[in-house]
Amino acid sequence: MPLEIARNDITKMKVDAIVNAANESLLGGGGVDGAIHRAAGAELLAECRTLGGCKTGKAKITGGYNLPAKHVIHTVGPIYEDGKHGEKALLESCYRESLALAKENNCETVAFPLISSGVYGYPKDQALKVAIDVISDFLLENEMTVYIVIFDKAAYKISEKLFSDIAEYIDDNYMDGHTDYSSERIRMNALPSMAPRKRRKKSEDDFLEMCDTMIEKIIIGKRESKHAKKGVKQKIRILFKGFGELNDLMCV
Ligand code: APR
Repeated sequence: MPLEIARNDITKMKVDAIVNAANESLLGGGGVDGAIHRAAGAELLAECRTLGGCKTGKAKITGGYNLPAKHVIHTVGPIYEDGKHGEKALLESCYRESLALAKENNCETVAFPLISSGVYGYPKDQALKVAIDVISDFLLENEMTVYIVIFDKAAYKISEKLFSDIAEYIDDNYMDGHTDYSSERIRMNALPSMAPRKRRKKSEDDFLEMCDTMIEKIIIGKRESKHAKKGVKQKIRILFKGFGELNDLMCV
C-alpha cells in the first residue's frame, strides 16, 4: 500500500527515513523534534551542528543513530499565521523536498509527522490535506511506501473520518460484481471507524470529496483491468480493516 496513515510515535517507526519537523537552527526543540533527538542520542545533534541550519520549506538528511530508522530527514515547516502568507506553498515544499531527498538516498519507506500542525499552528485538517495531496502526486510517479504518522487524538479523528468516508466512497463506486454487497456492508458497519457517517457540513464534504478523488488517483489510479482493481481492492480492505483495528485499540 503506497500511502498509509498510522497512529504511532514516529521515533518507533522501523523505516528507511523518518522526517523531523525541525526549526531553522536544526539544533533540536520540543514536539516531534525533541522526541527524535532524545531517541536518536547526542550523535544526531553533533551531525546537525555540521549542517549550518535549514531554510523553511527545505530539507536536510542525517543518520538515524539510536533510532530504528536509518535516516532522519529534517525539514522546517512554516509558522501558520492566517494562510495568506505563503504557508501552504512552504508546507508543500517541505513534503516535496523531503520526498526528493528520500528518493536520492534510495529510501523505500518514509514516515512523516504532520509538519507544522503542532507548535507552528497549521490547522490539522489542512495540514493533512497538504500532506496527502503532495505525497499522492509523488507516488503516482515513484515507487515508495509513505506513512503519515498521527500522534495526537484530534489529528487521528480527522484522518479516521477521512478514511471511513473514502471506504464508503470506494465501496459505493468501485466494489462491482466481485463483492457480495450485503456481507460487505455488514463488515464495513462492523468496523466502528468505518460505519457510514451522517452528512457533514458542506465545506467538510468538499474537502472529503476532493480527498476521495486524490486517494482514488493513488489506489485505483490508471488501473483499468478488473483484475488489477480486484487486487487493489483486497489491499484497500486490508488497509481499512487495519484502520478499524487501530481504531478499536484507540477506543479502549
Ligand atoms: N511522533 C509523531 N508525531 C508527533 C510526535 C511523535 N513522537 N510528537 C509530536 N508529534 C506531532 C504533533 O502532534 C503534531 O501533529 O507532530 C506534529 C508537529 O508538531 P510539532 O512537533 O510541534 O512541530 P511543528 O508544529 O512543525 O513545530 C516545529 O516545534 O518542536 C519545535 O523545534 C521544533 O521549533 C520547531 C517547532
